[in-house]
Amino acid sequence: MSANDSPELLTITPQGWNPGSWRSFPAVQQPDWPDEAAHEAVLKKLATYPPLVFAGESRALMRSLGEVSAGRAFLLQAGDCAESFDSYDANSIRERLRVILQMAIILTYSAGVPVVKVGRIAGQFGKPRSSPTETIDGVDLPSFRGHNVNDIGFDAESRKPNPKRLLRAYNQSASTLNLLRAFTKGGFADLSRVHQWNQEFVSTSPQGQRYERLAGEIERALRFMKACGLNHDTIPALHDVDVFTSHEALLLGFEEALTRRDSLTGAWYDCSGHMVWIGERTRELSGAHIEFFRGISNPVGCKLGPTATVEETLGICDALNPSRIPGRLTLISRMGAANVREALPPLLRAVKDAGHPVVWACDPMHGNTYTSPTGHKTRHFDSILAEIRGFFAAHAEVGTWPGGVHVELTGDNVTECVGGSDELLDGDLPLRYETMCDPRLNGRQSLDLAFDVAEMLRSSQ
Ligand code: PEP
Ligand code: CO
Repeated sequence: MSANDSPELLTITPQGWNPGSWRSFPAVQQPDWPDEAAHEAVLKKLATYPPLVFAGESRALMRSLGEVSAGRAFLLQAGDCAESFDSYDANSIRERLRVILQMAIILTYSAGVPVVKVGRIAGQFGKPRSSPTETIDGVDLPSFRGHNVNDIGFDAESRKPNPKRLLRAYNQSASTLNLLRAFTKGGFADLSRVHQWNQEFVSTSPQGQRYERLAGEIERALRFMKACGLNHDTIPALHDVDVFTSHEALLLGFEEALTRRDSLTGAWYDCSGHMVWIGERTRELSGAHIEFFRGISNPVGCKLGPTATVEETLGICDALNPSRIPGRLTLISRMGAANVREALPPLLRAVKDAGHPVVWACDPMHGNTYTSPTGHKTRHFDSILAEIRGFFAAHAEVGTWPGGVHVELTGDNVTECVGGSDELLDGDLPLRYETMCDPRLNGRQSLDLAFDVAEMLRSSQ
């Protein structure tokens, strides 16, 4: 049975669950709010605010992800590691959307597979940290946990968690989403604009020229379709696209405040984003995050790093998708290029044998981070690609569908990851290293990646 046939399937609230039931479970990676009453007052206020997304939209995404789990579509989930309160303007949102649309068109056209587009956007603020404190020159301060918690500056005032930031995160998410809706439904995403999507700094590069050729072919195909009587009026998909939002649902108080009952089906939805995921550091089966996620009806994801066992993975599937609804659960493997060939196949086999209809996505970023001699946290394009190759090879070995990729990128011309066909070097990193958290692929590297993944996808069919 698919979510398509029965959107009511998730209306049965799991036993003992309510939007706040996570509070009796151990919640890791939550900030130490200096004034808990002030934090609770902010949450109370947020609970009165309008939902950011609507249940029907999340259900539409779940149906599309159901197609991915059945091997008939591919998931592209991409965006910032952490959105910022500082670099927040219409241009940067448009550039991020633009690069996602370009990648999707490369994948769709070259591999002939529909692409489900999900941004790490309009809510991707909270960051889990490996240590609660950071020490520089003997000074010990709370770690930066994302702009919805504290600020990145290394002084006591900046690092003090401030719950008012949650209100600002809500407002920024709302206006980002508003712009995304305008761009995706208001003409910017029209397929006849494939040429215009090519950014200026990209179009002069080899990747940009390769993209131009592909856009030329698409234009010819569109002219052919038009001549056959198929045009914009008869096919709305030519001028509208669906780009969904997602983030790591880390701060459970915030997520609880935005969890609402859908009036149509009676089911609970976390209306802070269409899809939410659990990070590698918060996926403990007996923990608060799993408790919260099991009762919301959105499509959900869970990261799986190299230490994930078969038991844990099956436990996550059973906890989050007991009714085995296709598209409900995306498992995001982030093993590292060196581990993926060994670590992934046993998990793929176990999930397949258990009959769980999951989407398997590859996050080739988080297992391949290192510090360059310049002191910057970076990733090499070759390792990113190597992990995706290993991911495809693991699926080919087990006979499962390599459902998608989950990447950190920006449309801007930053220098945060090394390699790619521009051969960015360690020494280039200080030029434009602008990320709030992890290093992102720039626009050109993102197109490089899309062409390479399209080839893998084509040969895996
Ligand atoms: C992230 O996606 O930015 C992240 C922190 O990933 P992970 O939970 O896989 O470490
Ligand atoms: Co990250």
